[in-house]
Amino acid sequence: MSDFPKPEFRPVSYSRVTLTELMIPSYANFGGKIHGGILLSLMDKVAYAAASKHAGNYCVTVSVDGVNFLQPVEVGELVSLLASVNYVGKTSLLVGIKVIAEDVRTGVVKHTNTCYFTMVAKNDDGRPTIVPGLTLETPEDSRRFLEAIKRREFREQNKAEFDNALSALAVHNELYLLQQERCHIAY
Ligand SMILES: CC(C)(COP(=O)(O)OP(=O)(O)OC[C@H]1O[C@@H](n2cnc3c(N)ncnc32)[C@H](O)[C@@H]1OP(=O)(O)O)[C@@H](O)C(=O)NCCC(=O)NCCS
Repeated sequence: MSDFPKPEFRPVSYSRVTLTELMIPSYANFGGKIHGGILLSLMDKVAYAAASKHAGNYCVTVSVDGVNFLQPVEVGELVSLLASVNYVGKTSLLVGIKVIAEDVRTGVVKHTNTCYFTMVAKNDDGRPTIVPGLTLETPEDSRRFLEAIKRREFREQNKAEFDNALSALAVHNELYLLQQERCHIAY
């Protein structure tokens, strides 16, 4: 598969994918709402579909940003995941996913989440392989590409700051902070 010739660029529209699934009762948790894991699995599937289509190779999930379950999804709702490749690096791609849930009786649609999956294309030997560039067809495509660059920069910066904060953490000096937390020390 990896040996098929790839174009230098592919348009965003080439790999835009929508996955729609009915939320059936077996997807529900004990509270009667849809399990977060079901939605995560659908997000992973749609990210894979968009990334692999753009890359023309199998892709793997490397990291996930922005998954929040702020509104419950109900049994009987029709969930659609709209995915597109927002950004490409050399071997990595950022797929943006918008999740909406529709009540089929009322037609009311709620936007439950937007998240971002970083995927890496692999060749037949399992090594990262170069992906086609992205042809930006609309101003919206350009905005998303630029946002992805910013997101990446911020993540790298935050990671560096967080790593520094962790390596500077002296537990015995900071135990006093726990006094404001809902815990007690029992040793
Ligand atoms: C992700 C993976 C391919 C990176 O392999 P590697 O040999 O370190 O490759 P590289 O350092 O060349 O990185 C490859 C790309 O991944 C990106 N990448 C690596 N780690 C990353 C991270 N934590 N977050 C975002 N992107 C990352 C790099 O920036 C690079 O992108 P670019 O080519 O567009 O510049 C490798 O760790 C892997 O296969 N992980 C398992 C993925 C998997 O199986 N997922 C399924 C879920 S279990």
